[in-house]
Amino acid sequence: MWDTQKVESGGNYCYYEGKELESFQRCYWKVRVWNEDGNASEWSNASCFETGPLEKKDWKAQWIAKKDLKTFESGGDYDTESYKQYYASFFRKSFELKNGAKSARAYISGLGFYELYLNGKKIGNNVLDPGQTEYSKEALYSAYDITDYLSLKNCVGVILGNGRYIERYGYSKPRLILQILVEYEDGNKEFIFTDNSWKSSHGPIQENGIYYGEKYDARLEMPGWNTYHFDDTNWEETEIVSGPDLRYQDMPPIRVTRALKPQKMYSIEPGVYIYDFGQNFTGWVRIAVKGPGGTEVRIRHSELVNKDGTLNTATIRKAEATDTYILKGEGLEAYEPRFTYHGFRYIEVAGFPTVPTIESVEGCFVHTDVEKAGDFYCSNELINRIHNNILWGQLSNLHSIPTDCPQRDERFGWMGDAQLSAEEAIYNFDMNLFYENYLQEIKLSQKEDGSIPDVVPAYIKIYPADPAWGSAYITLAWYLYEYYKNEQVLKDHFDSMKKYVEFLKNNSEDNLIKKLGKFGDWCPPGAISPKKTPVEVTSSWYYYNDVYLFSRICEVLGKEDEARYYSELSEKIKNSFNKHFLKKYGYETRMFGPVDRLISQTSQILPLYYEMVPGDKKEFVLERLIDNIVEHQDSHVDTGIVGTRYLFDVLSENDHADLAFKIITQESYPSWGYMIKEGATTVWERWEKLEAGGMNSQNHIMLGSVDTWFYKYLVGLSLTKPGWEEVKVKPHLIGDVSFASGKVETVKGEFLVSWEKAETAFKLSIFIPFGCEANIFIPRLWKEYVLNESGTLLIDNGKKQDNFQESKIKFEGIEEDSIILNAGSGQYYFELKSK
Ligand code: BGC
Repeated sequence: MWDTQKVESGGNYCYYEGKELESFQRCYWKVRVWNEDGNASEWSNASCFETGPLEKKDWKAQWIAKKDLKTFESGGDYDTESYKQYYASFFRKSFELKNGAKSARAYISGLGFYELYLNGKKIGNNVLDPGQTEYSKEALYSAYDITDYLSLKNCVGVILGNGRYIERYGYSKPRLILQILVEYEDGNKEFIFTDNSWKSSHGPIQENGIYYGEKYDARLEMPGWNTYHFDDTNWEETEIVSGPDLRYQDMPPIRVTRALKPQKMYSIEPGVYIYDFGQNFTGWVRIAVKGPGGTEVRIRHSELVNKDGTLNTATIRKAEATDTYILKGEGLEAYEPRFTYHGFRYIEVAGFPTVPTIESVEGCFVHTDVEKAGDFYCSNELINRIHNNILWGQLSNLHSIPTDCPQRDERFGWMGDAQLSAEEAIYNFDMNLFYENYLQEIKLSQKEDGSIPDVVPAYIKIYPADPAWGSAYITLAWYLYEYYKNEQVLKDHFDSMKKYVEFLKNNSEDNLIKKLGKFGDWCPPGAISPKKTPVEVTSSWYYYNDVYLFSRICEVLGKEDEARYYSELSEKIKNSFNKHFLKKYGYETRMFGPVDRLISQTSQILPLYYEMVPGDKKEFVLERLIDNIVEHQDSHVDTGIVGTRYLFDVLSENDHADLAFKIITQESYPSWGYMIKEGATTVWERWEKLEAGGMNSQNHIMLGSVDTWFYKYLVGLSLTKPGWEEVKVKPHLIGDVSFASGKVETVKGEFLVSWEKAETAFKLSIFIPFGCEANIFIPRLWKEYVLNESGTLLIDNGKKQDNFQESKIKFEGIEEDSIILNAGSGQYYFELKSK
């Protein structure tokens, strides 16, 4: 089908360019590599992949729904009091196979959420499937190998929950599409698919909703409902309904990734118990319970408790977040919900038939199961705690889309939060397919005029986006290219990204964006809306960011004319930005009252980040920023989510990594250390400790952007060419940190940088994967020193030694504060010793 021939490239990935693939096809592939002498290796073992239904006509199945559904009014969301949702619906279909079935696949989607069973067994370990999409345009389907689940007499069963396919967002009742393809040894194929011969019913899962929770009445269980011999005469027929196009869900699914034991439990009144998991997280709890049928156990969730130990549900606002289990009364019963999730640290259990124990409940951490890519650890415990809180917060906010928060009546794909935390997420997890999927949703949400909304999928339709939020489109695509060398995504989105950039241009005046902004540098200390940073500054800066990055995208794709055009446009924006916003005191700041001279940190940070500041003004602007931080804020941030994202790069790139460190390790307000001192186990939405209703989530990821600093500057590993082909290794030895270590699994393989500082020696160990290059900056800690690599003396007091073999390591020079080397792939152990 395809022979790539010998590919001369440093890449270890390629896009399929062979014969056109057919639906339901199995393809095998193997590879070999050539070494530097041109000798070929043996062939690898064969691997394979399969195609599913590639075209619409390959779907024999039709969307079906239960005809009559019981409804309930669930509590509201952020701007409604209540809305209608449905009881869960159950579907079944029996079928027989002939002898000689060789393999079987199931292709399924069900809106809002589904669970699939074959002959009584749940298929796969995905939960809350399918991923959220613009359901009016497309739904995601998954494919399963079900060969081992089949026999001659079979039954397929599916349960549907509401998810976000609800009237509130313009949709209607839950619907299902499923087709099973069976292949026989003699080559014959047979399809089993959804049509109106399927039967449906309600069952034990009743009310269910993302914010609402789930109610399960075990007395209504229908033993064997998803097996062949079940008597379904009381079940109804189903109806054929319309449904969206289908796209394969290739990002990792949502799974239960970890079980958490409660740390403590106590009773607040007779029969009511509080469990504390000691960690804010996303998911639900499993309970084990024994008691009389009809007993109703109620589990409420919250992030906080009040002083008297009772639940404080203020921060989850209108989300009911309550799961109810009604016992059937048959021995030990186990329950966990399926069609909801909660963001919580505490639960309240009421109605338990006996006195529960600490073992009666178990927490389930539930999120998109992205693979871990990064690992970071250092000698400073506060930094490790901050990193850890960010990891919990980041995973909690991956629910097939990047969410703002996991607990209250929102949990939307707010794009500002997504783009500001993306680089952090990429250092820590393999985000390529996740963001690729999200970009597709951004594209689907785009209007004719090129505008995109603040929230994607656009369940709530807020058009046009604040430029800092809309920037997610260009910024995420660019990151996928930078970090994963994903060129395809640039091609796939080129036209729509261009439309978005043109939309910004059409809404600009004097090459600035004065009107589209509304959030700007959101949530600075002491406020929700930016205090000192004018929204026009952030909007216009993001206009620059998007046009500049888009010009680079054009360049990557070889579109020279467009690259020139957008690069020139970015120059114009820059000039206009400086002309309008650069004042005598620094960049534009809202001053309060005639005596206020305090400038906005963010207004200075943004132009410094892109080196937009005119050369002769750069030192001045930097000084103004440093002065503000040190003299007026006592080395604390005065930034919202936007400024915070870029602050530490700006300081570190301008020789102030020590100040970055000082700000990051503060324990007084406002800081991450302050949050931790006040009990945070994730990252707050606000710099303040606020525990009432309103905008007070305890688990937002947007201020988690600081995490990249730990990898890029403290450990000192950053990428300098797309796809990690070249990196900079430049450890920053600051404060009391005596060691730091970071590992990042990339498209090129695993990089490792680890350093350790003692009184008279500094050790740096580096692993560079195949096909990559590193520019290494070893700090000159002492005046008199020697530098060894794996025991070989390289440099003695600034003099390159004869045994410095430049085949592996190249000597690039000595600067005031570093010894600069260049190395290709390999493992290196450097040791610098004071003489
Ligand atoms: C969300 C934020 C979001 C913002 C828009 C909030 O309600 O939780 O994180 O970006 O609205 O400004």
